Order: sequence, then C-alpha cells, then structure tokens
Amino acid sequence: MSTASFPHAGHAAPNEPDAAPGRVLIFDTTLRDGEQAPGCSMTRAQKLRLARILDELGVDIIEAGFPAASDEDAAAVSAVAAAAHRARICALARCQESDIVAAARAVETAAQARIHVFIATSPIHREHKLRMSRAQVLDAAIAGVRRARALCDDVEFSAEDALRTEPEFLIEVFGAVIAAGASTINVPDTVGYTTPAEIAALFARLRREVAGIGRAVLSTHCHDDLGMGVANSLAAAEAGARQIECTLNGIGERAGNAALEEVVMALRTRADRFALSTAIDSTRLYAASRALSGMIGLEVARNKAIVGDNAFAHEAGIHQHGMLANRATYEIMHPEDVGFPHTRLVLGRHSGRHALRERISTLGLSVDAQRFELLFAEFKALAESKREVLDADVEALVLGATVHARGPWTLAALHVGTYVGGASIASLHLRHNDGRSARETATGNGPVHATMAALVRASGLDLEIVELRVRSIGFGAGAQGEAVLRVQHAAQELRGRGASTDIVEAAALAMLEVVNRIERTHPQLATLSPTHRSGNLTHDDLDQHVSVA
Ligand code: KIV
Ligand code: ZN
Repeated sequence: MSTASFPHAGHAAPNEPDAAPGRVLIFDTTLRDGEQAPGCSMTRAQKLRLARILDELGVDIIEAGFPAASDEDAAAVSAVAAAAHRARICALARCQESDIVAAARAVETAAQARIHVFIATSPIHREHKLRMSRAQVLDAAIAGVRRARALCDDVEFSAEDALRTEPEFLIEVFGAVIAAGASTINVPDTVGYTTPAEIAALFARLRREVAGIGRAVLSTHCHDDLGMGVANSLAAAEAGARQIECTLNGIGERAGNAALEEVVMALRTRADRFALSTAIDSTRLYAASRALSGMIGLEVARNKAIVGDNAFAHEAGIHQHGMLANRATYEIMHPEDVGFPHTRLVLGRHSGRHALRERISTLGLSVDAQRFELLFAEFKALAESKREVLDADVEALVLGATVHARGPWTLAALHVGTYVGGASIASLHLRHNDGRSARETATGNGPVHATMAALVRASGLDLEIVELRVRSIGFGAGAQGEAVLRVQHAAQELRGRGASTDIVEAAALAMLEVVNRIERTHPQLATLSPTHRSGNLTHDDLDQHVSVA
C-alpha cells in the first residue's frame, strides 16, 4: 500500500507548514458522484479513458468509484488504479468493514491511493436513514477511519449532509476522526442547501474549533440544487478549504456537483480576489468536457459557463463592436485559456453595422457605402428569419443576393401548395416602387417549377431558363437555400441569385433579380402585369434546366 505522500511528488498538503501558499487540491469525483447520476453511467473502458484525461488535466485526486456498490464498480476502480497516473486514486466506502476492505483492494495497485470513508451526521439522516444516535455515529466514524487507516496511509473522512448537521457535533466528529488518522476532512453540502455566507462561516468556525485541524486538509463538496454549488465551493475556499471536490460539466446527483471547469476558471480569473491556485492545465478543459459529454451522450448546454458553445460567442451589436476594438471589453477569459476552438462572433438580429462590415472584410469581400446600407437591410431581414447568420450567408448576401432588394419589383407574398402525386400551385404578389402591383398564379410539376412559371408569366417577358441551381448554405434548421439562375433573354444571358431559408422563395428572388435587371436597363421591356391572372402553364423548358442540390 502506498504512503501518505501528497500527489505530485514534493508537494505537501496545502495546510501543512511547508505547503505551497494558496495551493488548492482539485478532487475530481466525475467517476463516482458524477457517474452515479441518471444518464451518466460509463463502461469500464470509458472510465479508464476519462481517468487518463483527468490525469492529463492535472487533477490531484481521482475518485474512481464506490467498490462496494457492485463487482463492476470494484473492477473499474481496480482498472483505474492499475493504470499509471500522476493523480492519487481514491475509492469511496461507508464506515463498514466490508466497504473499507473492498475499497482498499480496489486501490491497492495505485501508485498513490486514498480511501474515502463517510457517514451521515445530520439529525434527519441519523434519525430516518441510519436510526443511530449521535454517539453511535461518532463511534462508527472513528472505527471506520481507524480501519481504513490500517489499510491505507491516506484516509479522507466525509460527514454526509454536514451543512445540515449541528455545528458543535460536526466539530466533535471531525476532531475525533483526525485523532483516528484522517488527513482530509470533507464537509459535504449533500443536498445543495447552503449559501456562500453560511458555508464560509462554518469553515471559519471549523478552522477555529476543530481539534488538530492544522494536521488535516479541509475539503468542500457542494451539490448544485439551488444553483450555488460553485459559489459555495469558492466561498469555502476563501474561508480556508484547500481541497475542492467537483465534477466535469458539473454532472452528479440531481442538479449535479460543483463544475470543475467553473471552479478552476473562477480561481484563475479572479486570482486577484482568491489568491489561490490549482495544478489544472486549463487549456485542456474544453476537450475534457467534450470527451465526457461524448462518452455519456449528455450534451453541454449552449450557455454553460466556460465550455458551452456560446461561452465565447458575442452577438449583440454593441458587444461585437467592443470586442473588435479590444477583447477585454467583453471577454474576461480568453477562449484559448480553456482550449476553446476560437471566439465565435455570431451574427444575428442583434448584430450591428460594425460587425457586419468586419465580417465582410474578414471574408475578403468588399462593398461600397451605398450598397452596404442595402446589404445591411437584407442582413437584418435574414437575421429575423434565421437565428444565426453564417459566413456563407454573408457571402451569399454580398455576392449578388442583394440586387432584388433594390427593386423596382419586390416580392410581397408567395403562396405555394404541393399535392403529392399531382401538380403544385404557386400564387405570388409583386409590388413596384411606383405603387403598381402584380398578382399571378401558375401550376407546375413542383413548387419551384410553379413559382418560376408564375414569375415568368407575371413578367410578360420572353424568358428562357437555361439553368437553375439550388444549394444549401450551412446545415440544420436555420440553413438557407441559395438559388442561382441563368436566363436567356433577347439573345442575352442574365444571371440571378437569391437566398432564403425557404428554397422556393430563394428561387423566386433569383428570378426577380433577373426581371429587375431587365427593367432597370430596358424599362420599356418590363411589362409586369398589373392584373390578377391565373394560368396552367406547363413550362417544359423549366423541367430540363432546374436542378436542386
Ligand atoms: O454528497 C455527499 O455527501 C457525498 C459524500 C459521499 C461525500 O457524495
Ligand atoms: Zn456528493
């Protein structure tokens, strides 16, 4: 069995006299408290892989499981312990002989091992779960620590539901287990009930009143039931905790445990306030978080602090403007600090002119001031219809899909009906800058076909479609369709382009661009009908030239 030396050779326990000042141990319990939560279970192979990731991340202690829970749990802890790790490998046990023996066996091959024994101390747990008196709980705690200490040099003791335990009883229990050989005293907020001020006051009192506390590391273990798991852990650290128990992505029982990545980045980003450090390589946080979410299939919320997709995205126009001037205006951490792929300036309906101009130039495109205003209006309309405007959307806007916005004709309405096994029908309403309007209805062998037919008919022009290509820009629910059209008119080939989240509308806008070009260059030719008409056009030429990719 290993000796009680602390992880990372040469480091003393943080509250030992020669400890590095302000060093906080990160005790990761993703594989134990995290893994036991619904939807978070992992195979043995996954546990091994995650243990390696945690080790490379720089956690000090990996709680690998609860060997008494099942043979598979025991085997997984043994496998993690047998693999080479820098971190100390810990196994959980109740204060019962069989649990402690199972835990000791499971971690016996670890280079550095720990047994973590626990018993509930709060009145509600004593009376309703354990049916034990205070004295019985105290005796069981002492006996458990002694047993564990006989099998392993490094023993942690937890008073389950400590934050709902009478403080004077906690003080008594902790003093007794330190005397019995526990070198880490953990104070779990098992049900996520405490507040930052309350836990800070408790830690201050424990440091003052627990006998022998100078020989042990005080540890905090907070659950997130009221959304304060991280805040409470940090408050405990400010009040003297030198070990923080936490999980990647905050997974754990019910609302989860304090999230490791949030704890670490708060300590790092607000070092001015905490003056505490960890051994975590923060640049590995993002990858570790994604590895876990991939393994258990539990997606990280988009707006999750530190590792969510939006953690470093800036959309509001005023924010984007500030960011472009100086990142520090809205970024308290750099995405590269946590290994985030890159800062994403998502263009959306809150984005302003500055962000759009910047994106156009980043894409190597340029537009003059007058055209930019039209483009900005189009961009705003697009951002209303889709949540995020991608680079490809901006490209499509700049590379031609703006012309129809200049008119003179604009698409006021388009209704399309499709009947499976039958024809499609399209009705549209066009408006002219000078107040005229045109309505047309046509059928076709598909919605794009019917729409093109209605537009050709409404134009009154002799237009022959040479080619129509429709492709998707981006992917997912917000993807746009882009239509690119080649039309033959009076021995001249014209091109039109349209983009919309609706491919039928994209095709209509492409055709409208052609019509508008003709009207602008040869107004006498453009004779869009001001009347209501309907027809049953079969444009065979359309069939030959329309392609949808
Ligand atoms: O939340 C809790 O009380 C625990 C203990 C077993 C440490 O997870
Ligand atoms: Zn817990």
